[in-house]
Amino acid sequence: MKWLVTGGAGFIGSCFVRTALTEGWADRIINVDKLTYAGNIENLEPIAHHPAYGFVQADICDADVMEELFAREAPDAVIHFAAESHVDRSIHSPAPAIYTNLNGTFTLLEAARRSKVARFVHVSTDEVYGSIEPPHEADENYPLRASSPYSASKAGSDLLALSYFTTYGLNVSVTRASNNYGPYQFPEKLIPLMISNALDDKPLPVYGDGQQIRDWLYVEDHCRAIRSVLEKGAPGEICNIGGNCSLPNLEVVRRILRATGKPETLITRVADRPGHDRRYALSSAKLTRETGWEPAMSFDRGLEATVEWYRHNSQWIRHVKSGEYRQFYELNYSNRTV
Ligand code: NAD
Ligand code: TYD
Repeated sequence: MKWLVTGGAGFIGSCFVRTALTEGWADRIINVDKLTYAGNIENLEPIAHHPAYGFVQADICDADVMEELFAREAPDAVIHFAAESHVDRSIHSPAPAIYTNLNGTFTLLEAARRSKVARFVHVSTDEVYGSIEPPHEADENYPLRASSPYSASKAGSDLLALSYFTTYGLNVSVTRASNNYGPYQFPEKLIPLMISNALDDKPLPVYGDGQQIRDWLYVEDHCRAIRSVLEKGAPGEICNIGGNCSLPNLEVVRRILRATGKPETLITRVADRPGHDRRYALSSAKLTRETGWEPAMSFDRGLEATVEWYRHNSQWIRHVKSGEYRQFYELNYSNRTV
């Protein structure tokens, strides 16, 4: 089997490519990535010389390049991770999220349809369901109530992907996962930012009251779930992927401080995110029922492994922070307090 993976130089995509090649999930993997600020070729160093691995630097929105690539490579399956994935960035500057998440998905679906790709997995997020009142949790039929430009662009791309099944019979699955964490995550999302700041004795900026709830999923568990959906998912269906670990942000930050051995005085309350979703809650009963998948990593073990990884990869953190991200961070966050 030849798989075409988009966004394979990012956090989750690179975990998928590393794991798939190491464990022999496919005969060949072509990784298509534009290498934005979030895409880092170093994330693929462990498998860079694997004989089954190929890399193409390209923008998924470039229709000519995608048509040519699909015609040349004739992949058996597409696993589509590439996206502008950060809510705060999409709030400060929505255009890249709309461009890549909507136009890019459209371009790939068209290329896949024209070259008759047998399988297309569109990787999406639980954020499309919006904020969920307790005690409810979202199953796959829950209404879409996206709050941010990021989540709205993902909800739009989910519908587009599903329309290619209904209209053209393209064998599409949509996965909607909860918040991921683990090694190689760009330090702009909650867990890697807090770990990186704690290790540097810098303030940990908690938005608002810190009581917002997220469900945490270890990245390797997510990648195994995607493989299950790719191989066993029913055509034209959605599958939720949750970590079964709901925690308020402040509790996550406290656990990070304990794991790094740093004091709670580093916690700094900052202004809340506009349109901040209070609670995400997901049911993955369908995925477990249909494929047997369940998350294997407990949050405490996963967090410990993640902290250890960041502790031993300070050069990676310095490197990814040295470019565009640092300017963005300094412009938007460095002086924010309540
Ligand atoms: P990421 O930001 O770490 O990586 C995104 C990758 O896509 C980068 O390598 C980037 O270079 C590439 N990319 C961006 N625009 C591109 C373009 N126009 N053409 C080609 N490549 C492009 O993201 P991530 O956290 O690994 O998320 C991957 C996918 O999983 C996304 O679709 C995201 O919506 C989804 N998701 C993420 C989470 C999470 O917690 N991070 C949770 C659920 C779902
Ligand atoms: P984030 O990692 O950006 O993921 P998402 O917004 O997609 O859920 O944020 C997770 C939660 O942490 C969210 O409620 C916002 C909050 N947060 C902070 O309190 N401080 C921060 O510096 C960041 C990046 C996030």
